[in-house]
Amino acid sequence: MFKITFICLLFNINCCLSDPLQEVFAWKQITYKIDGVVYNKNSDYKKTPGGFHFMEDVEEYEKFFIQYNNIPIGLEVYGKKVFVTVPRRRYGIPSTLNYVEISSNKSPALRPFKNSHNLISVYRPRIDACDRLWMVDTGLLEIPGNRTQVKQPSIVVYDLKTNTQIINYDLKKSDLINERSSGGLTSITVDVTEDNCDDAYAYINDLATEGMIVFSLKKRDSWRLNHPTFVHDEMSLNFTVAGYVINWKDGLFSIALSEPDANGDRTAYYHPLVSTQEFSVNTKYLKTGSIAENGRLEGSRGNNSQSGSHDYHPGSKTLFFANVAQDAILCWRVDNKMAPENIGLVVQDHTKLVYISDLKVIGDEVWVLVNKIPIFVYSTLNVNEDNFFIHRMKVQDLIKNTPCAEKL
Ligand SMILES: *[C@@H]1O[C@H](CO)[C@@H](O)[C@H](O)[C@H]1NC(C)=O
Ligand SMILES: *[C@@H]1O[C@H](CO)[C@@H](O)[C@H](O)[C@H]1NC(C)=O
Ligand SMILES: *[C@@H]1O[C@H](CO)[C@@H](O)[C@H](O)[C@H]1NC(C)=O
Repeated sequence: MFKITFICLLFNINCCLSDPLQEVFAWKQITYKIDGVVYNKNSDYKKTPGGFHFMEDVEEYEKFFIQYNNIPIGLEVYGKKVFVTVPRRRYGIPSTLNYVEISSNKSPALRPFKNSHNLISVYRPRIDACDRLWMVDTGLLEIPGNRTQVKQPSIVVYDLKTNTQIINYDLKKSDLINERSSGGLTSITVDVTEDNCDDAYAYINDLATEGMIVFSLKKRDSWRLNHPTFVHDEMSLNFTVAGYVINWKDGLFSIALSEPDANGDRTAYYHPLVSTQEFSVNTKYLKTGSIAENGRLEGSRGNNSQSGSHDYHPGSKTLFFANVAQDAILCWRVDNKMAPENIGLVVQDHTKLVYISDLKVIGDEVWVLVNKIPIFVYSTLNVNEDNFFIHRMKVQDLIKNTPCAEKL
């Protein structure tokens, strides 16, 4: 960084000094606006007009707003609407699926999404090519020391043209390994084209018991896949975030899809969180449940490349990685061999990119949600500074002068 700045000053050019991060939102703490009432400090729902029930199916003592416990984790974008999820990993979360509107207000109150009050806990939702919002409701109150499976984990889909719930599919017992599995269902990747909306597949990661669940909309059926490439790598443990050693043994974390081939199949790129390698499989093997011989190693991304969410930008044939181990975003152009020298570190920021919890390619931009969650888990957030961010960046700004730029 110093070197680049020095060169820029020397030649008096602005090129490399501009920050590609464009701040969309920044919050010190999360507030809500529910039925016209603003919740900006710890409060009891019973005191609100009409006695609003934050959620059904839970005990009375769980229906409070405990502001500090509200950590946003997932994001999606639909026009001016930005979805922000808050999984129920503590008491005091009023609503797990929320949205805000893009405007000049950088710290807006979250609003519960319509018809979502029956959801228990949602991580990273995804919108498909057919204007549908997909998610896994883990059904789990993930309270340390008192985990409660309120209901069976399910796939929930909303039609965004009408904001109505159109699918609520309970996962099968055979999709899960044990009582830990539901807490691992932290993302969903939807495989569909806009001319064939009924024939959608969804790929769900299970980072806790280290597998994948495949769902076919047409068949209304789901099945579990296990594979050695879904399992975390012991040698990649103990990376640091904000000075804290991360010893989470998280397996399969993110699945990103290429454009479809002539047969309508895609390459699914995937990795465990605790890994510095990238793997791939053709989706035809996910659809037929025959990954065994077909899940393959793409290569190594290099040291400290442990990453959470990743997503594919078709225009540049590039994958972008939420590189939590370096407060950075990495890129890899998929027609290059995967090797450390072909991985670009496209942006790094030790203040504004401390734990990128979700990353999504939207058009020709990369969007991220950042939440400093290791500080919440291992220490205490400073509520007087910005803790949660949503940034957007232009793909072309990110990849120029990196190994992911197009070869001329
Ligand atoms: C744990 O949760 C259950 C129901 O969700 C509740 O009845 C119980 O009191 C809780 N226990 C503790 C120690 O909080
Ligand atoms: C990670 O830390 C644990 C506990 O200190 C240690 O036993 C283990 O060997 C470490 N692994 C790596 C790869 O550094
Ligand atoms: C990764 O780290 C090891 C041990 O510190 C070092 O020997 C190796 O050269 C590093 N690899 C790269 C690609 O930087």
